[in-house]
Amino acid sequence: MENKKETDSQPLSDGTSRKESENVCLKRELGLPSAVSLIAGTMIGSGIFMSPQWVLYHMGSPGASLLIWASCGLLAMLGALSYAELGTVIKESGGEYIYILRNSGPLLAFLLAYTSVIVVRPAGIAGISLSFAEYVVASFYPDCPSPTVAVKFTAAACILVLGIINCLNVKLSTSIMNIFTTAKLLVLLLIIVGGMVLLAKGHTQGLQNAFDNTATGFGPVGVAFYQGLWSYDGWNNLNYVTEELKKPEVNLPRAVMIAIPLVTCVYLLVNVSYFVAMTPRELLSSDAVAISWGVKLLGTWTWIISLGVALSTFGSANGTFFTGGRLCYVAAREGHLPDILSMANVKRLTPSPALIFTTAISLIMIIPSDFSSIVNFFSFTAWLFYGITIAGLLYMKIKKPDLPRPYKVPIVIPIIVQIASVYLVLAPIIGSPQLEYLYVVLFILSGLIVYIPVVHYKWSPKCFRSVTLQLQLLLQVAPTNKND
Ligand code: ARG
Repeated sequence: MENKKETDSQPLSDGTSRKESENVCLKRELGLPSAVSLIAGTMIGSGIFMSPQWVLYHMGSPGASLLIWASCGLLAMLGALSYAELGTVIKESGGEYIYILRNSGPLLAFLLAYTSVIVVRPAGIAGISLSFAEYVVASFYPDCPSPTVAVKFTAAACILVLGIINCLNVKLSTSIMNIFTTAKLLVLLLIIVGGMVLLAKGHTQGLQNAFDNTATGFGPVGVAFYQGLWSYDGWNNLNYVTEELKKPEVNLPRAVMIAIPLVTCVYLLVNVSYFVAMTPRELLSSDAVAISWGVKLLGTWTWIISLGVALSTFGSANGTFFTGGRLCYVAAREGHLPDILSMANVKRLTPSPALIFTTAISLIMIIPSDFSSIVNFFSFTAWLFYGITIAGLLYMKIKKPDLPRPYKVPIVIPIIVQIASVYLVLAPIIGSPQLEYLYVVLFILSGLIVYIPVVHYKWSPKCFRSVTLQLQLLLQVAPTNKND
């Protein structure tokens, strides 16, 4: 990010003009390695250390679980390739939001921004922080289940620290991303090597009769997919920062093609290692899969795994904060969120209003929720919007075949993703209906109550402006510019 003097003088909500204020804009700083690290670093978070037991729980057998993990990787790859075409045609930051805005219009885009900013992003952060806390607290209570209060307080502390880091300095948060991505890959490598050694010693019983007890049916497979896909979520993260990517038409598809196969291979091998080290029963009764794995294979060195998980989850939550801030920026820049959320601190050049807001909502989310239910509702909502985004891409491919496309994805790929997204949204509702899914839909629709007066009729009472001005002075923030 850099400071930039503005030459035009657009009026602001506080009545001043851009000319008078020193503005903030985003710089193209991300090269291919950082792009790969942003994708892999956010994807690898809590899931691979927590979800394997849930996938197994729903699928019933190790073989079927591995199939789910492989299919999730494939789906993430196909989704990301489709997004790569979107990102090279529509070169603005903001991910799904900007694609839906350009392809399907402001109403759907607004509902996405509203839901993402208030629910999906904070739920993602709360989910990862809760698993961070599970692991940290579990190491203090080796022989009994961790007290819930301690877990929730630790998760809250994690969110606060991340909020502060991200408000303080952009460089600090990107360095954390790079260091932590390396650390988590090393820990996962340790787990993989442990599994290989066991396999080499002939411990293959965990993978014999691998498909016994496999669950079938619409619902269990859908929910198992949700748990697996949580671990792959983040595959779309680079599309949130296209404006900060060097040569996006080349680096966006390239980064996706490196990061996602890498993460998929790592996840599959780590799962194999869990299955050879533990019986399905041991896996299912474990509080934290990777720790149980560590206790069996590393003994007193299990702390390495706890540390690795803590670093991994912290790094991924940090990535989610980072890109979540960009979504707020773009949506507020388009007039779909309060102006204040599109502003950045004039000295620190961080989007502090958006970050403070995200921190507050994430803190609220950890109070009632547990990891597993956060993951289910996160995935449901996320796939609903991924589906709408992909529908936009299909529309664009059919109706506007002549648009310049630096990267062209074969049409069959978005078609598969579209079918998968419909399945993923419908399967859990039909298979294991829960009232919570209805609440999610009602919440999304409640956005209409805000959209109609505030966005459609541009209702903006004077008090909004004075609140924005007060907040601007308090937080020392100024509007941001588009990077073109
Ligand atoms: N895949 C991550 C994990 O396993 C979750 C990422 C959530 N954040 C996001 N930006 N989608 O913990």
